Amino acid sequence: MAKKEPVAAAPLPDELARELSGLQEKALAELRGASDEAALEQARVAHLGMKGTTAKLFERLAKVPGDQKRAFGQQANAIKVALEQAHAERKQALESAALDRELTGEKLDVTLPGRRGHLGRRHPVSRTLDDICAIFARLGFDIATGPELERDYFNFEALNIPADHPARDMQDTFYLDQSAFESAPSGAVLLRTHTSPVQVRTMLETKPPVRIVAPGKVYRCDSDVTHTPMFHQVEGLLVDEKVTFAELKGTLGAFVQALFGAATKTRFRPSYFPFTEPSAEVDISCVLCGGKGCRLCKGTGWIEVLGAGMVHPNVFKSVSYDADKVSGFAFGMGVERLTMLRYGVDDLRLFFENDPRFLEQF
Ligand code: PHE
Repeated sequence: MAKKEPVAAAPLPDELARELSGLQEKALAELRGASDEAALEQARVAHLGMKGTTAKLFERLAKVPGDQKRAFGQQANAIKVALEQAHAERKQALESAALDRELTGEKLDVTLPGRRGHLGRRHPVSRTLDDICAIFARLGFDIATGPELERDYFNFEALNIPADHPARDMQDTFYLDQSAFESAPSGAVLLRTHTSPVQVRTMLETKPPVRIVAPGKVYRCDSDVTHTPMFHQVEGLLVDEKVTFAELKGTLGAFVQALFGAATKTRFRPSYFPFTEPSAEVDISCVLCGGKGCRLCKGTGWIEVLGAGMVHPNVFKSVSYDADKVSGFAFGMGVERLTMLRYGVDDLRLFFENDPRFLEQF
């Protein structure tokens, strides 16, 4: 097989060399002189595009005499590199000029207030709960708490509500599978229906005198416009020697005035609770009309807010207090209801929807 003779490399003729450098200068001038990005793009297409100056040079390569191909090719490549570099430089220059214009031209209003993070606030029911406890703290009461998951014994039995007592119907609740509580000796486990079991737990742990309020969550199988399955109560218990109904009236009267204002009056009506005797339902003069009679108090001038009474001897018996030596009073109140009266909220469900538009008002 005959070997192809390598073609000796020759320099480009002067005329061709001048032509090439002329093309290069013209293209460089157009690229460097482009006044904006559109003009630059036009120059790029004209010189570096598929039918542009450099593309045509490479097409011409085929027609260049063999000994000049090498020199021509090198020159064409050098031109392409030079044009690409000029394009990149101009592009960069135009871009940074545009950025400069944007930055120096923009009006910055440094007096515009910054954006603040959203600050939450305490729930109105929590506020009322705390305020109630603070009022009783001033009257000398301690805070006591008990479990929400309670034994039937503390929630009912020890409070003089035996298994077949009709009062249980009013406080139906949620019972738990007892087998889940291995350590528990006996007796059903339930969600407490009121804070009254804290009376029993406290008396079992301490000797008289006792003076406590017990705030917390309670549960009932109730759900309608005025009842939620969970709500809050504050229990009160005072046990000492010679405690009378007069002290109960004085204490609750002072409390109601502290929470709703000095003009608020209190009225006691006979009622029934298994764990107090005598028992009373406590009304306050209507917070809306002051007692004249309106829609809120249904024309009566009074609003029921509390249950109360003198501690039943059977309750003392279940905690081994001597009912001949000590006496006491107890009371319980619903915190959601008091909060509604306090702030003029007319729908209980608003407390549980967590709508910021509602909560931000307090
Ligand atoms: N525990 C009662 C209830 O939930 C309220 C109450 C408490 C009544 C203490 C009298 C004494 O309805």
